[in-house]
Amino acid sequence: MTESTTHHGTGPDHGTGAVVVVAAALLDGGRLLAARRSAPADLAGRWELPGGKVEPGERPEDALVRELREELGVEAVPGERIPGEWPLKPGYVLRVWTARLRSGEPRPLEDHDELRWLARHELDTVDWLDQDRPAVAEAALRLPAA
Ligand code: C5P
Repeated sequence: MTESTTHHGTGPDHGTGAVVVVAAALLDGGRLLAARRSAPADLAGRWELPGGKVEPGERPEDALVRELREELGVEAVPGERIPGEWPLKPGYVLRVWTARLRSGEPRPLEDHDELRWLARHELDTVDWLDQDRPAVAEAALRLPAA
């Protein structure tokens, strides 16, 4: 609620005026979960860190847990915020947290048509959304090198 990078819209983050989209660098067994978008057409086929919009009055970590429940059918525990904030479409910014699985096995229930667990050396085998790439690079530093 403190940084200021964009000034569009009337989202829940009144500190910036931007709608915050939260996404998870979900880490398990030395791998990061990548999710392939099934919609909209201009994003379909590209890979992202799963997440979605923070609702008015919702805490970002709560939104993250809710989105992972809705999209993947898992219970997750948020970890640390990955430093930075990345612009999406006008009026929307992306913020990323690490997360770990509490229970469940991720399935592509909503928004995605394929999931992959990627080891550090496999991270560049999928076509990440441009706006997710800096966070993926940061998340890679939290994965074992070998
Ligand atoms: O999933 P949802 O539609 O709520 O996401 C809101 C917006 O944030 C969409 O435009 C989506 O493409 C974008 N997004 C993104 N990178 C993510 C998660 C969402 O660019 N990791």
